[in-house]
Amino acid sequence: MTNTKQPLSMDLPHLTDSGFKTISVIMGLSALVILLMMIAGLTMRLNQAQIITIDAALFYQVLTAHGAGMVGVAGLSGAGIMWFFLSRYVSLSVGILLTFLSLFLLGVVLILGAIFVGQFGAAWTFLYPLPAVSGGAWGAGAAACFVLGLTSIGVAFLLLYLDIGVAIIRRYGSLSKALAWPLIFSGSQEDVPPPTVIASTAVTIFNTIGIVVGAAVLLATLANLYMPEFKTDPLLAKNMIFFFGHVFINASIYMSVIAVYEIIPLYTGRPWKSSRVFAIAWSAILLMVMAVYPHHLLQDTVMPAWALTMGQIISYLSGIPIIAVTAFSLLAYIYRSNMRWDLASGLLVLSIFGWAGGSVPAIIDGTISVNKVMHNTLWVPGHFHFYLIVGMVAMVFGFMAWLRFETSSKQPTGMDKVAVWIYAIGGLGVVITFLISGALSVPRRFAVYTDAWTSQTVYASGFATLLILIVTMFLLKFLIAAPGWRRQE
Ligand code: HEM
Repeated sequence: MTNTKQPLSMDLPHLTDSGFKTISVIMGLSALVILLMMIAGLTMRLNQAQIITIDAALFYQVLTAHGAGMVGVAGLSGAGIMWFFLSRYVSLSVGILLTFLSLFLLGVVLILGAIFVGQFGAAWTFLYPLPAVSGGAWGAGAAACFVLGLTSIGVAFLLLYLDIGVAIIRRYGSLSKALAWPLIFSGSQEDVPPPTVIASTAVTIFNTIGIVVGAAVLLATLANLYMPEFKTDPLLAKNMIFFFGHVFINASIYMSVIAVYEIIPLYTGRPWKSSRVFAIAWSAILLMVMAVYPHHLLQDTVMPAWALTMGQIISYLSGIPIIAVTAFSLLAYIYRSNMRWDLASGLLVLSIFGWAGGSVPAIIDGTISVNKVMHNTLWVPGHFHFYLIVGMVAMVFGFMAWLRFETSSKQPTGMDKVAVWIYAIGGLGVVITFLISGALSVPRRFAVYTDAWTSQTVYASGFATLLILIVTMFLLKFLIAAPGWRRQE
């Protein structure tokens, strides 16, 4: 029998009303951007399906907006989730959170202006020296606007992480203690930090390093735009961009998974424990997430062989902390717990399936011999849409659904339960059609398709439409609950 009586609320001792409202705004904005960017994704798929025709230059602007928008909002919503739950354990500044949001929005305005006014279309990866060599498609001003937009978002995150790092050190004494190293190395049970603190500390360290590296290459790109004689080694720039990009997008998942650690125990009645294995897994992730990025450069034959070999080996190993620790623990916690299945718990459990499942095509692509053939095909969007749509974004909507149940008197409806299945079918449909096209060698990032490439695109568009409809419902339900947004005392 399903237990429907479990209390879903939790203690949030440091969370003020303004903190709570800012997080609600962050999540509402994130959901809106996810919806708009999904519509942009559908537009690209419809164009590839030859159902609609958009100009190739516009396609690349939409691709740039979709990539930058989705990656940015993944970071924003992940940060919102992390901040919300971390405020259970340490005292964070709402002023810094508001500054973070303002700088983030400034970055969004600059990026949108660069793309839709300045016609910048060099993709979110802004691969050096492409921003400066557009062949007349956009000017230096547009590229500079895009670079400054990303820089503003980077500064926003550095500020937020600084506040988080200081708050963690104030409470736990040092970052190593907050990573539970005394537990790892000497088995000490004294003041063991909860999973949220361990995860937040690891993310704060590696994403700060990633963003600093990203900022350096952004400044080099900016200098090159106005002083063409200022040149950077393109291979070094590519390494820096992919290091930053890989770390940033992974950080968004590692921040969002905190929702699973915090919310699932409210449903199962079993706290998510900071075991020694858990702590070791997070310290391993801290190193692996920074060492694995060369798997994006396996086709760059000029890269040192040791770096590419490391990229392949760590690609294989980095699945272990995810699958072994989070997915296995989740199953163990759920088993015979009689948990209530609703939109929040359903999406959060789905998200771990999506995260773990997405790592399988990623590991396949991380194999050098496969990568040589597959990396420029739709297999790659297939793998990252897997753990972003079915994984990361499901965590975001799971958290928002929980926030809605927790803060309003509304109980889950029958539609809420069906919605999880609709989301899963729509999301997996988008992903599987990408993967099949990739396996059939359809190239990625092509605006115009030959007839032979279109076989999956019509189905893909149908699944994307389903996903968009259900995400519209998630957003509307969250907004309708808005008058009830308040902290439960
Ligand atoms: C309805 C859902 C979605 C659809 C239909 C969709 C569609 C697309 C399409 C058609 C592309 C270009 C593929 C190519 O030809 O290379 C793309 C790229 C991309 N998508 Fe999505 N997408 C969706 C959701 C998402 C989500 C939720 C995220 C992240 C949270 C995301 C992140 C990205 C990124 C990072 C790229 C790469 C852009 C690039 O290559 O520069 N997408 N998507």
